[in-house]
Amino acid sequence: MILPSILSSARTAVKASCPPGSIAVDGTLGNGHDTLFLAECVGPSGHVYGFDIQQAAVERTDTRLSEAGQRKQVTLFHASHHLIAELLPREAKGRIRAFMFNLGYLPHGDEQVITQPDTTLEALRTAADWLAPGGIISVALYTGHPGGPEEATAVIDWARSLPPQDYQVMWQQMINRNKAPSLLLLEKRTKKRA
Ligand SMILES: C[S@@+](CC[C@H](N)C(=O)[O-])C[C@H]1O[C@@H](n2cnc3c(N)ncnc32)[C@H](O)[C@@H]1O
Repeated sequence: MILPSILSSARTAVKASCPPGSIAVDGTLGNGHDTLFLAECVGPSGHVYGFDIQQAAVERTDTRLSEAGQRKQVTLFHASHHLIAELLPREAKGRIRAFMFNLGYLPHGDEQVITQPDTTLEALRTAADWLAPGGIISVALYTGHPGGPEEATAVIDWARSLPPQDYQVMWQQMINRNKAPSLLLLEKRTKKRA
């Protein structure tokens, strides 16, 4: 296949914005695939902060990172991502090179526990504020579960309202597939000198 999947597009953009030594955040740990990817991008001189409200997700991510030898540069929070500003060190504000949010439920887990529009939007507002110039936020949106379409609409509406002089926003979806997941990518513009 020539066209990139949403996962591939997310990783390409995040990797480009996240050289070794960077700070990154995984807003939804789940099974830890994205956290491991971020840990490998930032390397031992960088740092990744990860959030999930389910203990099972924290444990699965912990195991995946440990088995890959990438545990040292990651801090895991068993907490909601809307608490990013309360739990991250103040010095990280404006220096975070990438945020990844993979919304919905934990695969092979409790499908009733899903991300919710209110807390997702609060986390995204903080992410947009704390992002470094040139940094990327990726949001994978799913519409196949109850509550998913409403959350996706709320996130897209928020992203559309961002000022174009401050953020570039892109949205990717395979439009000939029913309930196809989509990807939102936000890049914070670097300010021009006056
Ligand atoms: C689709 S999974 C994430 C997949 C993961 N990024 C991976 O690579 O395996 C969504 C996760 O979001 C978590 N979640 C739901 N509400 C949350 C919240 N308010 N804060 C943080 N995580 C949340 C769920 O528990 C679930 O584990």
